[in-house]
Amino acid sequence: MGSCGLLLLLLLGAAGPLLQAEPAEPVSAERSLAWGPGLEAGIAVPVRYFYIQAVSAAGRNFSRSPPGIKQFKVVIKALSPKEVTRIYTPRPLDRNDGTFLMRYRMYGSVTKGLKIEIFYGDQHVAQSPYILKEPVYHEYCDCPEEDPEVWQDMMSCPSQEPQITEDFISFPTIDLQRMLKEIPAKFSQARGAIVHYTIRDNHIYRRSLGKYTDFKMFSDEMFVFLTWSFISMLETGQLSIGKLMIHLGLYLSSPGVALWIPEISSCRRPFWENKTEKALFRGRDSREERLHLVKLSKENPELLDAGITGYFFFREKEKELGKAQLMGFFDFFKYKYQVNIDGTVAAYRFPYLLLGDSLVLKQDSQYYEHFYIGLKPWKHYVPVKRNLEDLLEKIKWAKENDEEARKIAKEGQLTARELLQPHRFYCYYYKVLQKYAERQASKPEIRDGMELVPQPDDRDSVCSCHRKKPLREDL
Ligand SMILES: *[C@@H]1O[C@H](CO)[C@@H](O)[C@H](O)[C@H]1NC(C)=O
Ligand SMILES: *[C@@H]1O[C@H](CO)[C@@H](O)[C@H](O)[C@H]1NC(C)=O
Repeated sequence: MGSCGLLLLLLLGAAGPLLQAEPAEPVSAERSLAWGPGLEAGIAVPVRYFYIQAVSAAGRNFSRSPPGIKQFKVVIKALSPKEVTRIYTPRPLDRNDGTFLMRYRMYGSVTKGLKIEIFYGDQHVAQSPYILKEPVYHEYCDCPEEDPEVWQDMMSCPSQEPQITEDFISFPTIDLQRMLKEIPAKFSQARGAIVHYTIRDNHIYRRSLGKYTDFKMFSDEMFVFLTWSFISMLETGQLSIGKLMIHLGLYLSSPGVALWIPEISSCRRPFWENKTEKALFRGRDSREERLHLVKLSKENPELLDAGITGYFFFREKEKELGKAQLMGFFDFFKYKYQVNIDGTVAAYRFPYLLLGDSLVLKQDSQYYEHFYIGLKPWKHYVPVKRNLEDLLEKIKWAKENDEEARKIAKEGQLTARELLQPHRFYCYYYKVLQKYAERQASKPEIRDGMELVPQPDDRDSVCSCHRKKPLREDL
């Protein structure tokens, strides 16, 4: 959020409210919209958020920040004056397109409910005040929902996850014994990072196999959260983070990504018409096509600005191609077109690029992450051949078809925002684990050398659950 805030200050001069072409209609507090999981009690994802859309009295959505000095403001309190809980309530983040993102954080739990007021100036927005009559738990509260159907409903999980269905076709049964033999032998030498998990009775056990153990923090984060949320379905589940999981596209960094995404999509950036009309790339030399891209850029500087910021795999090329200065990620979006090229595997930046309201030119790739299935070429991004032979042509196309390009960029951004919301990630993980558990041929065990993964500490606040029995008998 830090760098984003800075950017916001710097750009205010150029993109301030007075310069906008938006009609000078005022915002109607009453007609404006508010929605999102943060306006419901049951959902306990590790980040609480909702959205606000500014709408005029005539019912028109603002597509840029509303003019004037009035602002949206949110006040969140425990419903009962007897409960005192600290709730971090920052100002809603202006997404620069007429919508606002409101994140808040519970530093404790409230048992009687929450009152969320949304104001524009001094008037209530939409159905404000929102009264959440159930307990609202702080994010480290260990309060699982036992019924997975209820949980999925609460999270508005999609009923189908076609990617999961497709990925599991080649794994009708999962033979834990065999995996246990084969995976470490195959991967711990070459890749050096395997974390072996057993999930039993809603406790997570883990051991690291292989040389590098740092990856475990990413995967832990995901499992810890999931066991908060369900007991019954995952009493007996076992996962080996190896080939299968990679095949599933369940990349270890994803939960971190998910929690971060609302920030990125809220940064202030130049408007489309003020972006530099070139394609941009900055990154490391992790794949040969990236070097080829730099060559193209040197030959076609009017279309493409590409640079390698660090050499590791092709050090001998540094002299010829030169090293580009590092560039802040938010500065990427001063350019209209963004080139997405695989790194060692799928480029993790793809979702970030989509969120940045520039047009993404995506290299064809065999690699994918779980949400790619919701994204279509020519609707959400422009496809580019794997060997980049049509890249320049595609950039020219975008320059000549500005309206079309802008439309694709916008579609890409909106769809990415939808697909990449934190709760959608957890829905996905849940369905993967559920399918996985179903297919196991034998019972999972707690193996030699496994340690219990601790849940985050919740000592400091009221965590007694209204939901069925408390999880830990010893408390
Ligand atoms: C206004 O914005 C909301 C939320 O962004 C959207 O659901 C709705 O379809 C929009 N309405 C129109 C008329 O575009
Ligand atoms: C683009 O930048 C120019 C000059 O900085 C400014 O006058 C103009 O209003 C900007 N356009 C938009 C749509 O912000």
